[in-house]
Amino acid sequence: MNLHTESEPQLTANMQVAESQENVILLDNVGVRYRIASEQVGTFKEYLIRRFQGQIKLGDFWALRHINLSISKGEVLGLIGPNGAGKSTMLKLIARVMRPTSGRVLVKGMVAPLIEFGAGFHPDLTGRENIFLNGALLGFTNDEMQEKFDRIVEFAELWEFIDVPVRNYSSGMAARLGFAVATDIDPDILILDEILSVGDESFQRKSLARMKGFRHLGATIILVSHNAETILEMCQRVVWLEHGQIKMIGASKEVVEAYQASQEPTHEPTQ
Ligand SMILES: Nc1ncnc2c1ncn2[C@@H]1O[C@H](COP(=O)(O)OP(=O)(O)OP(=O)(O)O)[C@@H](O)[C@H]1O
Ligand SMILES: [Mg+2]
Repeated sequence: MNLHTESEPQLTANMQVAESQENVILLDNVGVRYRIASEQVGTFKEYLIRRFQGQIKLGDFWALRHINLSISKGEVLGLIGPNGAGKSTMLKLIARVMRPTSGRVLVKGMVAPLIEFGAGFHPDLTGRENIFLNGALLGFTNDEMQEKFDRIVEFAELWEFIDVPVRNYSSGMAARLGFAVATDIDPDILILDEILSVGDESFQRKSLARMKGFRHLGATIILVSHNAETILEMCQRVVWLEHGQIKMIGASKEVVEAYQASQEPTHEPTQ
């Protein structure tokens, strides 16, 4: 047996681990509490009056609780779980859109969040204006955005609609523009909340290819998707959230399979 060649891959693997261990995102015992009214009220005015009179009680609802997670540079992390599990809430924390009620969130680098369709876009402004506005918000000059502009519109395939207000876009069109901007500005961290699923098939293929290129460049990507195939194709590690807590975390295949098994319908007894 040749010990020399045996030990070499080992060394390389260790070096890769050491290299990839720079944490860029840290969630330390994080909790998010929403306060929700216990009853339905017609108008906002009515709500204020009744709230003032003490007739409306606010209930506490923990959308996330005891979340501990660190994500390293260059990692592509999948986030899965049923509706209402807390996935988007977790992404909002990482995007610095909201702050945790308890615990700490540390994020290093520029984040391009694609959390809600068209989020970050002003509905009254045209696609063109929104591209420049988005760029400005992320710290780019007009000249820098001008240089990117054609490429962004080309990728989003929105030349025909670029001077139309974004409010008249379909959700797929808004998602395409969002994705094209976010991936052209070369962020350190890219957050994608179900964004790939609203594009049509050809756009989904194109987006996946671009994300793979992005992954090669060492960007950190967090991907929420209800599509198991996309998660398995893109992610090394997956977090399964359920009722605001991490139910399982590990290699993509294991976690996705365990989640899918839990989702299988239980047969109701026939009467
Ligand atoms: N602004 C808010 N006020 C009150 N409750 C909220 C608010 N936003 C979210 N929630 C609640 O927090 C929980 C988690 O919501 P979240 O949007 O993070 O779920 P999700 O995992 O992204 O679900 P989905 O798969 O449907 O997108 C849900 O029960 C939701 O009703
Ligand atoms: Mg969500």
